[in-house]
Order: sequence, then C-alpha cells, then structure tokens
Amino acid sequence: MVPSKNIVLIGFMGTGKSTVGKILAKKMSRALVDIDHRIEEREKRKISEIFEKEGEEYFRRLEKEMIRDTASHSGQVITTGGGAVLDAENFAALKSSGFLVALTASPETIYQRVKDTRHRPLLKSPDLMAEIRRLLEIRMPVYKKADLCFTSDGKSGAQVAEQILEALEKEEEFEFGKDWF
Ligand code: S3P
Repeated sequence: MVPSKNIVLIGFMGTGKSTVGKILAKKMSRALVDIDHRIEEREKRKISEIFEKEGEEYFRRLEKEMIRDTASHSGQVITTGGGAVLDAENFAALKSSGFLVALTASPETIYQRVKDTRHRPLLKSPDLMAEIRRLLEIRMPVYKKADLCFTSDGKSGAQVAEQILEALEKEEEFEFGKDWF
C-alpha cells in the first residue's frame, strides 16, 4: 500500500463512518479529519444551525471548500458527510487524494441508528423510513463508485475497520474487497 495516500470514508448517514474513521486513524497512527467537524470548528456553530440559518446551499459551499483544502494534504484518514461526494468535484478531489472506502447499511439498520438522533437536518421527515429509502436510492450509485465497499450491517466499528485494513494491505487486489450485496 502506498502509505501517503489518504483513506477517505464515504457513505450514507448512519453507516458508521465516524466510528470506523476514529478506529482506523488510531490503528494507522494517522491524523483524522472529519469534514463536518472541521466545518463546525471553522464556523463556530453546529451543522444543524448552519442548515437552519443559512440553508443547505451555503453548507455545501463550506463543505466543498473544506474538501478542497483537506484533499490537498496526504496521509490522513478523512471522514465525510453523507452528501459530500454527490458533488462531482468533491468526488474527484477526494478520489485523486487517496482511496475511497464506502460504508453501506440496509435502510432498516440506518433507521435504527438515526431514529433517536436530532442533529441531522436532512432526516427530519415525519416518515423517516421513506426518506431514508428515497435518499439511499438517489445516492447509492455514487457510493458504489468507491474503490472499496463494505457493509456495516451487523458489524461493530472495529470489525469494519479490520476488514478495511485487510483489504488495503492487498491494494493490488482491490476488486476483491467489494461486498455490496
Ligand atoms: C448530510 C450528512 C451529514 C452532514 C449533513 C448533510 C447528508 O453527515 O454532512 O447533515 O447530506 O447526508 P453524516 O453523514 O456524518 O451524518
């Protein structure tokens, strides 16, 4: 594996990117850069407040800027918000900076993980399950373009991180790592 390439976690809300990213960064002794966290630090307010006061378009501009800055550095573990890679420029910037690793989970798993959380502005629909399914259908084709894909259904963050590390060690056999369905 080329050590300086970034490891970039992408995927839908509630698929475990933050948990897995923390474990990966620790195991690999790498800096962890969470794009949303960096945006909150820079703006000195929460993502939910940015959405509420300035709207999604404003948030997406901040996200794009942060991704451009972050992708210009190497050797990091980067975790992204669920909508980040829907933008083609964001996808390309992250892709050219390292390995894109997508985490997936079934709509049912995602529902269980997010139903009692309040910090996600895009998951406020009264029919949460329908909204998860709707967004997943739109986004899945983009997540599938990652170099590696893993489901986090029924797995702990540590188990997913271990699978990612094993696959990265066999970098030349990348195709082998795809376990979408
Ligand atoms: C978003 C996901 C969130 C956050 C923002 C928008 C999305 O991050 O970036 O609320 O569009 O899916 P997580 O995927 O970490 O929840």
